[in-house]
Amino acid sequence: MTTQPTAAEIGTMRAGARMSDEQSSVCVLSTAQEIGDLVEAAAALMAGVAVDRHEGAISEIGEGAGAVARGHALVIADIDPQNDDDMQGLRNLVAAVRPGAAIIAITHNDLPLSAVRGLNRLGVAEILPVSVTAQELRDVMRETLEPEPAVTPAAPPAAPAAASSRSGTIIAVASARGGCGASTVALNLAHQLLGRSGLFSKKPRHSVALVDFDLQFGDLGTLLDLDDRGALAQILRSGTPPDESFLASAMLRHSSGLHLLSAPNEPVPLEAMSVDHASAILDGLAAQYDHVVVDMPRALVAWLEPILRRAGLLMLVTDTSVPSIRQCKRLIDFYTEEAPTLPIEIVVNREKRPLVMSAPHKEAQKVLGSELRHWVPRDDRMMRRAVDRGEPVVRAAPRGDIARAYSKMAAGAQKSLAAARTQAK
Ligand SMILES: Nc1ncnc2c1ncn2[C@@H]1O[C@H](COP(=O)(O)OP(=O)(O)OP(=O)(O)O)[C@@H](O)[C@H]1O
Ligand SMILES: [Mg+2]
Repeated sequence: MTTQPTAAEIGTMRAGARMSDEQSSVCVLSTAQEIGDLVEAAAALMAGVAVDRHEGAISEIGEGAGAVARGHALVIADIDPQNDDDMQGLRNLVAAVRPGAAIIAITHNDLPLSAVRGLNRLGVAEILPVSVTAQELRDVMRETLEPEPAVTPAAPPAAPAAASSRSGTIIAVASARGGCGASTVALNLAHQLLGRSGLFSKKPRHSVALVDFDLQFGDLGTLLDLDDRGALAQILRSGTPPDESFLASAMLRHSSGLHLLSAPNEPVPLEAMSVDHASAILDGLAAQYDHVVVDMPRALVAWLEPILRRAGLLMLVTDTSVPSIRQCKRLIDFYTEEAPTLPIEIVVNREKRPLVMSAPHKEAQKVLGSELRHWVPRDDRMMRRAVDRGEPVVRAAPRGDIARAYSKMAAGAQKSLAAARTQAK
């Protein structure tokens, strides 16, 4: 019987491969001549990538998996996830690839999400449709083969990061009361900011980092089914704030394209984070990403100040109950005192945008002195399904009402950020 590696082992294996020297050998496994040709065309667009073609079906991969996969940093296989023999072949391949090798699946175009999830769970790094172009495949291959330094306490001091010209925007997401949905909003807003127009085929238009600063209760890692590797705990333990290259290695990568700095899964006191730590993390990430979305701590700690000072926009998530609106008002006053020029936008979660504002809605706007700007409808079943799948609900149900609401929110946020930037000039 074949012993399957766990997801964590596969992650470690991948990190190992990225650090090795043999990063340019790619194996393509398909009976279709066009797929072999496509991989060769993509490799031809990259420097120093050798392609080894195996004109066989993945379903036939059994004992011979080791011979096929051995020595390659990347295996690109033509897979039908609804074919049991193909999936068994994939399991054999996962067990046989050398530690750290990545697998890209090329599949037919209209794949159900359950099949996507099944491939991800087995350790497939990327899933691409057969209609992918050589350029798109080249981009994915480049990203998969890219060296990624490991995060270990024993790592030598990181080299100074190359100067970056990016100056990403920072969006802070806070909630009026616990459980209002701040983490869900941060996650799904971040996903829509990627600007992906298709599920599998398109590379994100923007790079987006998600930061879980809810130090003690943060659950973004769980929501994305990503295991914390201890990077933030390590940053907090060290006296010196992290530099850009350490931060780059600390980010966990989700198949959606989101990168996450997860909250520590070990208990840490809120004071473990200093103003300098928070400043360095945000500056480092803003230099590397187009957008940085921060899930804020619920406590009013001293290191809120560097977040509020750097944020271009604050999203305050609430419901329209009287206690939540009162709490919202208190928070708006607090944030405005700390950061008088920071635009604050209200997100009403679990409520569909009404066609006509009711009297309580109008009253809430009056109390807040602010428009109830964004609305996200309630969908318990879909939300639960997304959480179980470990992905943002906008990805689990990309055509649903919730996804539409988040797309609007992302577009609105980008407009507000652009307006604030123009005003600051
Ligand atoms: N629009 C929605 N429809 C249905 N359920 C939702 C919606 N938004 C959030 N939820 C659910 O509500 C629960 C709380 O959401 P979430 O964890 O995002 O809130 P939070 O404000 O971050 O909470 P905490 O204060 O614990 O950090 C989660 O189970 C989430 O799946
Ligand atoms: Mg939360």
